[in-house]
Amino acid sequence: MRTVAVIQARMSSTRLAGKVLMDLGGLAVLGWMVRAARIIPGVDEVVVATSDESGDDALAEWCKKEKVSCIRGSLNDVLARFAFAARQVNADIIMRLTADCPLIDPYVCGEVLQLLKRNKVDYATNTMPRTWPDGLDCEVFTSAALYRAEKEATLPSQREHVTPYIKHNQHLFKVQSLPCPLKGLSLERWTLDSPRDMEFLKELVSHLAAPRPSSYLEVLEILEKYPHLRNYNTLAQATVSTAPPALKAMPSYALSKALLKMAEEVIPQGSQTFSKSAKTFPAGHAPLFLTHGEGGRVWDVDGNEYVDLVCGLLPVMLGYADADVDSAIREQLNHGISLSLATELETQLAVRIRDMVPCAQKVRFAKNGSDATAAAVRLARAYTKRERMMVCGYHGWQDWYIGSTSRFKGIPTAVRELTHSVPYNDLTAIESLLLKHKGEFAGLIMEPVNATMPQPEFLQNLKELLHQHGALLMFDEVITGFRLAKGGAQEYFGVTPDLAAFGKALGNGMPISAIAGRDDVMREMEDIFFSGTFGGETLSLAAAIAVLDKIQREPVIPTLWANGKKLRSGVDALLAKHHLEKVVMQKGLDPWVILDLVAQPQATKEALKTFFIIEMAKHGVLIIGSHNVCYAHSEADILHVLNAYDAVLRKMAENLSSGELEKCLPCAPLIPPFVVR
Ligand SMILES: Cc1ncc(COP(=O)(O)O)c(C=O)c1O
Repeated sequence: MRTVAVIQARMSSTRLAGKVLMDLGGLAVLGWMVRAARIIPGVDEVVVATSDESGDDALAEWCKKEKVSCIRGSLNDVLARFAFAARQVNADIIMRLTADCPLIDPYVCGEVLQLLKRNKVDYATNTMPRTWPDGLDCEVFTSAALYRAEKEATLPSQREHVTPYIKHNQHLFKVQSLPCPLKGLSLERWTLDSPRDMEFLKELVSHLAAPRPSSYLEVLEILEKYPHLRNYNTLAQATVSTAPPALKAMPSYALSKALLKMAEEVIPQGSQTFSKSAKTFPAGHAPLFLTHGEGGRVWDVDGNEYVDLVCGLLPVMLGYADADVDSAIREQLNHGISLSLATELETQLAVRIRDMVPCAQKVRFAKNGSDATAAAVRLARAYTKRERMMVCGYHGWQDWYIGSTSRFKGIPTAVRELTHSVPYNDLTAIESLLLKHKGEFAGLIMEPVNATMPQPEFLQNLKELLHQHGALLMFDEVITGFRLAKGGAQEYFGVTPDLAAFGKALGNGMPISAIAGRDDVMREMEDIFFSGTFGGETLSLAAAIAVLDKIQREPVIPTLWANGKKLRSGVDALLAKHHLEKVVMQKGLDPWVILDLVAQPQATKEALKTFFIIEMAKHGVLIIGSHNVCYAHSEADILHVLNAYDAVLRKMAENLSSGELEKCLPCAPLIPPFVVR
């Protein structure tokens, strides 16, 4: 297998023109690259690929002088340039390096190459997600993958950046990434993109023991020895893509549709989650199967890219493939997943939650939100020795709750009769129910806030009312927890419940939830039965610890508020522009804005929602009915979503005014199972 390292170089860098031939410690930057590339284990030849523009003649001359093969091709269609170079040198495997990484580590590149060869994949990299210092980037792919991409990639961004077509069409290509074994290095910046980077590199290389770094570890040692160097180059936050998503003129969902057919043969509903199924995303008109996510974006099996405003139905609060959470999981994986006794991780996480959440004197863990709300309800019943419950909001799939909705099939009447749904903000209704069944209510479990804001003092007065009746107040903070504030809605509103349930954001996607509350109530855990095989599963605990530590260390929650606010105010302006203020309303708080689509004489609520989901997907935004913002959503993501809104709202307004919205829908409007928000 002939392996060729192709160094992509050009003189016309926007931020630092001519950087690749600049002098760094007596050698051109490109010279550093060539010297390192030549000793990458497994690489047979090194070539420089530059453009055929006259501006790059200097590069070609440099190559000639230094006896390096230079292949020239299109300036902007770099994908074609690479394919041309690969054919010229008869490569079976191509390693793509960029010329602005003078500290590139030959042995890390060698490992990426081995990853491709040993695991027999089409594309290997060390950049998905970013865990290595910026400046050690390496991508390796087979010539077959390159030639296929050259033939099929149509978008300018796919042609300019060579590999997006391969790495984001994961149903076509097998893709693997080499994670950095050391923590926190994704915040290091060793690349050359600005004069400041050059100052950093110049000083850094002056400390090298030999003409080139022996490995990235030597660079780390130098940075430890000369900490002032960090003032130049440490990134505040790992960078994820800031370019707009690659959008096809007309996305196809053919593979999603075909996979649904296969899934439905063996999986009732074709999905594990109602809101991720064809009951929410219409088959053939929206995506149904995703391959991967990165930051605030996801890709589907048909190779379409989306800014994701679903974020896994809210657990993905930091973003996909978060370096800190992933590295905590990887580290824990070396120690075992489900051990035969408890681990210290449980206490470590419980202590963090106790320190962050006002009501949390004691904490227990479970796997999902339904576990946590069910445990809270059982505790309340045990503590008060009463059976009736009041509910307000959505609390999961279990009998005690779902029996109170219109989806009660399969729930015994005796169970249903014990759960009473109450209206939000209506103390009178709640009080009359408490009086009607005097002494029978164990408590009220509620989403402290969703679409509607609490009236002043509502939550506090509710707590007092419940306590007067010997009942408990329980907050279902499965969504609001670790999102509205470090201590959840209870901190945000300043009202401490007796018990609270957490889930979703706690694990950034790992299956973990928590029940927390007053010491005396939580003590009932000793006598009720709440116990499961996976309650202490360690990967999720390690992930949750990493999530909470990140929330404490970085401006995660302020960013959720800021991202949510930018979206909300942008959408408000667009609604005014298209005169749709009375059709689409934004409700709730900025970190979780809920869209209320209001039925019109020309279109039902369901038709509007189906139209909205289909059209937003067409414009590269995955959304159901809320802005589930995450920490990783970038400015470019938000701008992209607002541009999509602009186009979709324009079409909505046109279709409403022509009275054709329902007629223009490509499928029947989708009907939700029940509505609780
Ligand atoms: C407020 C609330 N409570 C409970 C649940 C149930 O959580 P899970 O689906 O993880 O069981 C959900 C899920 O969406 C929720 O939004």
